[in-house]
Amino acid sequence: MLYVDRVMLNNFRSYEKMELNVGANSVVLTGANGAGKTNLLEALSFLSPGRGLRRAKLSDVNKIGATSPWAVAGRVMTPDGMRQLGSGLLPRHELAMETSPDRRIGRLDGENLSSPGAFGDILQIAWLTPQMDRLFIEGPSGRRRFLDRLVAAYHPSHNREVNAYEKVMRERGRLLLDGHADPVWLTSLEKRMAEHGVAVAAARLDAIQKLSQAIMESQSAFPGAVLTIGGELEEDLTVRPAVDVEGAFCERLFGTRAIDAKSGRTSIGPHKTDLLVRHADKNMPAELCSTGEQKALLIGITLASARLSTIQFGAPPLLLLDEVAAHLDEKRRGFLFEELEEIGSQVWLTGTDKSLFEQMENKAKFFHFEGGKINVN
Ligand SMILES: Nc1ncnc2c1ncn2[C@@H]1O[C@H](COP(=O)(O)OP(=O)(O)O)[C@@H](O)[C@H]1O
Ligand SMILES: [Mg+2]
Repeated sequence: MLYVDRVMLNNFRSYEKMELNVGANSVVLTGANGAGKTNLLEALSFLSPGRGLRRAKLSDVNKIGATSPWAVAGRVMTPDGMRQLGSGLLPRHELAMETSPDRRIGRLDGENLSSPGAFGDILQIAWLTPQMDRLFIEGPSGRRRFLDRLVAAYHPSHNREVNAYEKVMRERGRLLLDGHADPVWLTSLEKRMAEHGVAVAAARLDAIQKLSQAIMESQSAFPGAVLTIGGELEEDLTVRPAVDVEGAFCERLFGTRAIDAKSGRTSIGPHKTDLLVRHADKNMPAELCSTGEQKALLIGITLASARLSTIQFGAPPLLLLDEVAAHLDEKRRGFLFEELEEIGSQVWLTGTDKSLFEQMENKAKFFHFEGGKINVN
């Protein structure tokens, strides 16, 4: 079992100070629109690496008018015992230079971390939010991020590889824009891009194969999805060894220097990959499915991924399900709650109306948010 036992916020959006004692059970947050439910889920999402479930600008998270930067702390029960995780915006005066971008720091068991990257080794967090209802109909970047979060649940080094790839890619881009780049230096950057890029692609491929298997095997009330990765490197990896793919990618990068210098972009690589999803039973691309079917597909993928990550990671992920219950009829809601219980995750559910969660009555702790106050009921 893995759960957040207590969460504390400081100057986090609508909260000046807030402490919630939860325990091992799942959590239901109810309250009117604007009551602060999503804010709390967002705070929890900062107990994992990345930009949080809103992908907000770090400074936007600061409570308006607050004089010190936001922070979130969580006491988390893990298979290795109780851990103290903390994260927050580094005060601007502690940045190296005035022009440095904002930074989020991490704290683990009282020790400062240079970044929250290591949180991914301690707990896994997955979420579904109303914004993700558009995942299948918008551009590939949202799906690629979704894919990479799924992958990171089974390949702990995946985020680091993605970041390393993007960093070298930006460096190559800057050199190309400069116009007088040293070709030897460019070649060495492209070699590193190829190494990280192939590692990224290989992890994606492996994770999607495992997840597809998990989807096929799972007895779920939610529709099965057929997942494929649309990406040159990933496709290439299915037909030849990684070293060959790496070599070929290097050559392609060499060949696109002139175009990339002109466009200011990197025209090929795993930063362009897309996740393609089909509704298995209907044999229909997700983007052509109804809004409700798309939501059900996403829930199905999230549940299967949670099952798989429980096996791979050794503990179930924390699940943040924002406004998910309201979209389902009573029967489907019941199935969702049953499957969640069977997976064993601590789930944080939100909704405006408590009646949506009647079937969770004895299985979750209920908090009602009203007028900036939280009532346990
Ligand atoms: N940086 C901020 N400082 C102060 N309040 C904020 C900040 N960002 C958002 N809010 C407020 O937080 C409130 C609660 O938002 P949210 O958690 O999304 O509500 P809901 O319960 O509907 O999910 C909103 O009314 C919003 O105006
Ligand atoms: Mg909300």
